[in-house]
Parts: sequence; C-alpha cells; structure tokens
Amino acid sequence: PNSQRQHQSGSAAEQNPLNSRALSTRRELYERDFPVYKQPVEVGSFSLDSERRFFNDGRQMRYYVEPERNPNFDLRDGYKDRFIKRDDSVKEKLDHILRWVVANRSKLNSRTTSASSCALDVDFVTWRGHLTKLLTTPYETREGWMLAATKFRGTIYISEVETEAARRERENRTERHEEMMYWGYKFEQYTCADNVHGAPDPGGVVNTNEAFCTVVQTRLADHRLLFSGEVDCRDKDPGAPAPPACYVELKTSAEICTPKQRSNFHRFKLLKWWAQSFLPGVPRVVAGFRDHEGVVVSVETFHISKISQLIKNEYNCWRPTVCMNFCCDFLTFVKRTVTEDSPSMVYLFSWEPHRDVTFSVHRDSQFSFLPRWYVEEMTR
Ligand code: A3P
Ligand code: MG
Ligand code: MG
Repeated sequence: PNSQRQHQSGSAAEQNPLNSRALSTRRELYERDFPVYKQPVEVGSFSLDSERRFFNDGRQMRYYVEPERNPNFDLRDGYKDRFIKRDDSVKEKLDHILRWVVANRSKLNSRTTSASSCALDVDFVTWRGHLTKLLTTPYETREGWMLAATKFRGTIYISEVETEAARRERENRTERHEEMMYWGYKFEQYTCADNVHGAPDPGGVVNTNEAFCTVVQTRLADHRLLFSGEVDCRDKDPGAPAPPACYVELKTSAEICTPKQRSNFHRFKLLKWWAQSFLPGVPRVVAGFRDHEGVVVSVETFHISKISQLIKNEYNCWRPTVCMNFCCDFLTFVKRTVTEDSPSMVYLFSWEPHRDVTFSVHRDSQFSFLPRWYVEEMTR
C-alpha cells in the first residue's frame, strides 16, 4: 500500500483546502455561503428484523406516541433481563444499502437513455452516519475516522473502517457505559408503538438488531447523493406530511442544571443532533432529559430548522455552513482522488483531530468492501 502523509502545521494544505494530497479541516476555510442542499427525497426504505435480516419494506416502522412533559421513565428497567444487543463487532459495511439498490435499481436509473456517465445516476452511495461524521469534522477534537471509497461504474461508494482507537474503545467499554448505551433504546420503547393505533410496550424486549431505514436522494452542490439512515419513528397523524418530513428522531441527554451544562449542550450535543437529522430532512428531535439514575425527568422537542437560532448566543459556536461546506469540499476531494473505476480498489481517507485529511491507496486488500454478489448483479 502506498501511504501518503503530509506534514501538517503551516503547510500549503492548510492555506488551500483542496490541495491534491490533503484536505484541511480548519473551520475558517469553510466560512462561506451555505451550499446548495436540495430537499432530500425519500426513494425507498427497508427494515432489519430482530435477527438483522433485510426486508425491502417498512415493516419495522414505528409510530411516535407523545409522552407527558415529565414522564419519569425508568431507562434502566429491563437492561439485565429484557435486552438483546446487536453484535457490533460484526461489520456490515454498505451491505444493507447495496441489497436495497439491487432490489430497487429501476427506481434509480429510470432514464433509460440516460446521458449520465454512471449506471446509478448518483455520484455517491453511503450511510447517513458517515456523512454526519463529515459534517461535524471541523468541530471534532476527540475522535478521528477512516472512510474507504471505491468507484464502481461511475458511482463512488463510501464505507467506514473502524479506527484502532474506536476498536479499543468498543472492546473496553465500562459496564456503566454499556448500560447507558441501552438507555437511548429504552427511551424509544417508551415513546414508540408498533402500529398507528397502538400504545408503547415498556414491558417488552429491547432488541437493537431491529431497524427501519429510509433511503434518500439529494444533491449537495454538484454532488448527487444516495444515502440511507435509521429512522426512529414517524408522526402517526394520517395528515402528517410525506416522508421524510413526518419522521421523528429520538434522543436522550443528561438533564441540564447549570449554565455551563446548557452551553455544552448547545456546543456539542446540538451539533450532532442537527447534523444527523438535517441530512435526511428529518424535521424534529424529541429529547428525553434524564438524571444520573437514568430517569427521564423532562421531554422537549427541538425543531431542526430552529437550532441555528438557539445556538446564536453561544460564544464561538459551530455553524451549519462550515459543516456543509466542509462535507462538500471533502466530496470534491474524493472525486478528484478516486479515479480508477474498479470494485477491488480502495482509496482510504483518514483523519485525526488537529490534522489534515490524507489518503492511501489499496488494491485487492482487506479494505475492499463491495461484495461479489453486488458487483455481479450490477454488471449483468
Ligand atoms: P441516544 O440518541 O438517546 O443517545 P440514535 O439516537 O442515533 O437513534 O441511536 C439510538 C441510541 O443508540 C442512542 O441513544 C445511544 O444510546 C445509542 N448510540 C447511538 N450511537 C452510538 C454511538 N456512536 N456509540 C454508542 N451508543 C450509540
Ligand atoms: Mg435511531
Ligand atoms: Mg435516536
């Protein structure tokens, strides 16, 4: 593998965000007009069942049931005896999205005499979560990332590779941390019903294998994107707008007791929440604020379109335009870099906080991620 690392501070790469070997993540370089971001359109959805099996339908969709303002939900309930945890050492890469693409190909390249240079009529296929990481990169000081990119029939596929640091963290989580990760899913169980007219079932099992995922298409400047993201639930009102506008993202967060805590919430939590939901066009986040014992003491709705107003009084705070411009320039950097069209070629983009984004090139390596079944299906 031919690994390329640039020296960092004061380099030309820092002055020019689109240097050919490295991409700067310095915020100042991305302080410009908000780029064009087309309203995301849902082109389909899929479900993963309790055993993580793929279904090309919305069977795992859930319906939001508004809780009381101060519900006192006990998020610790069921952790020991009614919890089935997804095995997060299994790396699924883009497989579920690719299965969706194979099953819905006709929806994508409907223009039969397409003038487009690629078979899918999109420039990038990826997970929403990978794009969320890109959006927050200019403000991230703790966790780096690695993103593998492969060009196949004109479309660039981007799939995350777990960093060494992330693997170590995953393998060394404390019991407290493991339990706290359960709390977010337990909150979902308290606020979601399986049917439009149903009620939540807090006595049931929490199984984190289950998921409902939306697939959306949109454009960021001149990048045509197709991505999928997990959706927690939807508005059950039959008069609600069409997806993705009817979707609701659920979150938990520590209760806010001091001005310092409020400031940190605005500066760090709301950045992640905004990035995750803005991308697929999910308009609101319902937050359960919990105490140290895992009891939800209050519930509040945040409208994504109002978050930039909410944070305006925060000194030196994050800006949506920086997030979007960085993502846009990263995708331009990827397009320039990923030139060879081959399913076995991987361009591995790596980033560590306080560094530039760099890349290395790998042929027929451990990083190849497009499955043979996908390549064969798309070549037919
Ligand atoms: P919270 O969001 O309430 O923290 P999501 O909010 O994206 O729908 O994810 C549901 C829950 O999964 C989260 O609840 C959290 O408990 C857990 N979770 C999500 N991303 C995680 C991550 N990167 N590390 C650990 N837990 C995570
Ligand atoms: Mg979720
Ligand atoms: Mg959630």
